[in-house]
Amino acid sequence: MLPLSRFNVQEDVNSLANSLVDVLEISLKKGIAFSGMKPIGLATGRTMLPVYAKLVERIKCWKKSDLEKLRKSWCSFNLDEYVGLDPWDKNSFKYYIDSYLGGPLSLNRDKMYGPDGNAKDPCLEAKSYSRHIKKLGGVGIQLLGVGVNGHIGFNEPPCTSRATCRVVSLTESTREQNASCFLGGLRNVPSQAITLGISEILDAEEIHLVVTGSEKSAVLKSFIDSQPNKHLPVSWLRNHKNLFVWTDTKAINNQIKY
Ligand code: GLP
Repeated sequence: MLPLSRFNVQEDVNSLANSLVDVLEISLKKGIAFSGMKPIGLATGRTMLPVYAKLVERIKCWKKSDLEKLRKSWCSFNLDEYVGLDPWDKNSFKYYIDSYLGGPLSLNRDKMYGPDGNAKDPCLEAKSYSRHIKKLGGVGIQLLGVGVNGHIGFNEPPCTSRATCRVVSLTESTREQNASCFLGGLRNVPSQAITLGISEILDAEEIHLVVTGSEKSAVLKSFIDSQPNKHLPVSWLRNHKNLFVWTDTKAINNQIKY
């Protein structure tokens, strides 16, 4: 079983965002103070919206000089991207991160990386994206959400822990799950994506997995109950020594009984 200390259960998404942002803020402040900010791994999806909103709100209250330092040292890598979408496509994850984080904080867009969904050769793009992360020293903090089928990034089940950054086909259930975020609905949701693999995700120094809402209750229960296995990609995170799970009462639903 995962130690209870790895879980942070909050009453609702607002208090969750507040507490998680407390942790992120400390790490960002440390990073700028010692000019040693490691790249941050960014997840997208509805789950992360309150977290980014709170992070923006907090950082906007920083001293101007600290904000400037953050802008200079910021470096982030998105987890994944749909194949076939330009970075400026409103449905792309690049656009999402820019809208909710990069734009509001005027961060340096040149150092907010994401796989190029519109690359001529997506397989080659996946390989070079993975190399790029390694070249810049690897990810420090990795933020993660989870799909109802247990995918992280777009590592759909079944998926081994050795999977690296690659092109994947999305399951119909994932496409349907994400359709509401798409202008034009399901017919516009691409069938493929580039995603960091479980292997690169596990290479991060620290992982913060955010699981909220009653629709994630079943997947959270499976995560708590199962040993790492390929049918539940999120379960590989149990092997990480610095994993923190952030959840609300709707998702946890009295599941931690120890
Ligand atoms: C998406 C993304 C994941 C995200 C997950 C959950 O497909 N690729 O990074 O964590 O599915 O999304 P949501 O937070 O909208 O439920």
